[in-house]
Amino acid sequence: AQTPKRIAVTGAAGQICYALLFRIAKGDVYGPDQPVILQLLDLPQALDAVRGVVMELEDCAFPLLAGTVVTDDPVTAFTDIDAAFFVGSRPRTKGMERRDLLSANAEIFRVQGEALDKAAKRDAQCVVVGNPANTNAMILAANAPNFPTENITAMIRLDHNRALTQFASKADLHVDDIERFVVWGNHSPTMFADWTEAEAKGRKLSEIIGDETWYRETLIPQVATRGAAIIEARGASSAASAANAAIDHMYDWIHGTDGKWVSMAVPSTGLYDIPEGLMVGLPVICKDGHYERVEGLEFNDFQKEMMARTVGELEEEREAVSDLL
Ligand code: NAI
Repeated sequence: AQTPKRIAVTGAAGQICYALLFRIAKGDVYGPDQPVILQLLDLPQALDAVRGVVMELEDCAFPLLAGTVVTDDPVTAFTDIDAAFFVGSRPRTKGMERRDLLSANAEIFRVQGEALDKAAKRDAQCVVVGNPANTNAMILAANAPNFPTENITAMIRLDHNRALTQFASKADLHVDDIERFVVWGNHSPTMFADWTEAEAKGRKLSEIIGDETWYRETLIPQVATRGAAIIEARGASSAASAANAAIDHMYDWIHGTDGKWVSMAVPSTGLYDIPEGLMVGLPVICKDGHYERVEGLEFNDFQKEMMARTVGELEEEREAVSDLL
């Protein structure tokens, strides 16, 4: 049998993890032949709930689940890991300013960055889901100086998937037909769902749909505010779809995308004049366990304006947590 992969998951008692953990244990990240050990981190007051989830995992009799660890200590959670899902974060509570939210989370990700630095395998693949995801990932990287920054990413895949379904239904296409689509920037309402390069069946998606007004005035805001629409309808924030997007993000990174673009928030190298070090959603192609940023694109005025807005917001967030960087 293969040596199990160790996967850390933070916020294990939360609602996203209630969907995520079962899919990881089923084999949806590494595939049907790879055993996994789940290393689950949450706050001390949530550990009983995590143990309850572990009882349910046991009751699934997953053939690939080779073990579980339950802990409130980040170093224990990140010891020898091959991958990590950073889902846990401090939610916004009533009356909390955006700046307070940023700094409360910054502190969490500072501590976890130090633990990652100390305990994880150097090639562990990390995705931050907990909001504000991009900036949390940047703080994680800044506090793990001996851990490769390239291996720290944030999730913008839910926004990507949301847009694909809207495009496919508008154009009567299959979601898999759509290529070269990307969501740029921050996982926040400023994100930029960009169809400029998108194609389906050899044609430009914008020509197939032929409705620029729909794209600008319906699609873009609809994707940006979908999270709020789910809360409104469900009375709780998206959980199973967020878990699914996290699985897609990690699956593609590990297994490759066969030349296809996917959206990942990754450390900026200065490409497209995005300030270096920001964690920014951009198009990547994954191959052999690595991602490559899509280069050589040129932007029209609308793209430049949309990029400036979302990148500007990421710079403001960086400014707000500058003392922890
Ligand atoms: P939840 O509130 O149900 O669960 C969060 C869990 O994290 C709780 O069990 C809590 O105890 C734990 N936690 C808090 N601080 C922690 C720490 N320092 N260490 C370990 N665990 C800690 O939240 P839910 O619905 O599972 O969402 C989790 C996060 O994912 C939220 O920040 C949410 O905004 C974000 N999210 C991100 C999306 C994206 O597209 N990037 C999409 C949907 C949600």
